[in-house]
Amino acid sequence: MQILDSHLNRDHLEVIFKEAAAFEKSPYIVTGAQRIILATVFYEPSTRTRLSFEAAMLRLGGNTISIPDAKHCSAEKGETLEDTVRTVSQYSDILVLRHSLPGAAKLAQEFSECPIINAGDGSKEHPTQAILDLFTIQKHFKKIDGLKILISGDLMFGRTVHSLLNLLENYEVEIWVDSPKELKLRGNWTIHECATTVGSPHPPAAEILKQVDVAYMTRMQKERWPVGMTQKPPYFSINKNNVDTMKEDAIIMHPLPRNDEINISVDKNKRAKYFEQAKNGLYVRMALIKMVLGL
Ligand code: CP
Repeated sequence: MQILDSHLNRDHLEVIFKEAAAFEKSPYIVTGAQRIILATVFYEPSTRTRLSFEAAMLRLGGNTISIPDAKHCSAEKGETLEDTVRTVSQYSDILVLRHSLPGAAKLAQEFSECPIINAGDGSKEHPTQAILDLFTIQKHFKKIDGLKILISGDLMFGRTVHSLLNLLENYEVEIWVDSPKELKLRGNWTIHECATTVGSPHPPAAEILKQVDVAYMTRMQKERWPVGMTQKPPYFSINKNNVDTMKEDAIIMHPLPRNDEINISVDKNKRAKYFEQAKNGLYVRMALIKMVLGL
């Protein structure tokens, strides 16, 4: 199995969910990963993805080496991604890559001596995040088919959203999107748009929030905005005033880090699942390492 993008089918996902659920039950299952070395090569900042991959490898009994950011590797001296990957893959058995270039993981795989896992490439893909997002939904509802999902935020530059939408193509779901007009989703997905993006008579996100099973919030990806694009005023957030308008069993998700789109007053609400979602990343990434290495 390769995790270079989010083009996985339902069978793949079901196997990953089963493995991840087993690791959640027994995180110390020995799988033959002793002496395996996982390299994290991150050219962009990360808290959850890098550390959960490293924790996953350590939990499996292996070891890690890391380039935590581009300033701490020879990229700073002009080395290409290709040369860095050629080199690091000689020291490791699996390499987890985050890079600002869309398609970086696929490019890296051409030069790598070991399997690459895509940990985010520009605004294009973040497949392991989307897998753990779906695992979180599946765990809560015991199903994905039939759910109504609101995805809100910077949908143009948010990579988790693109990968999540690709994976959701495997299921019968109703998807609503909400973003500032300038940050509208690009691509060909079957979705409904809220008024913020396309104007009335489309329903506003606040109305859709009352109806959905999942509210998936994302932050403004300012680091990817073109020069001259300025801070947008807050346009939709989940806060103490609207959280209880949601269905009793609905959940609020966020890949994190967050800015203003989920107020901290919501954190103790039973619908807030974003920190559990981050924890699920550990089990999903244990499963992915195991499967990519064929352990
Ligand atoms: N969700 C996510 O990718 O978080 P990090 O940037 O902290 O890895």
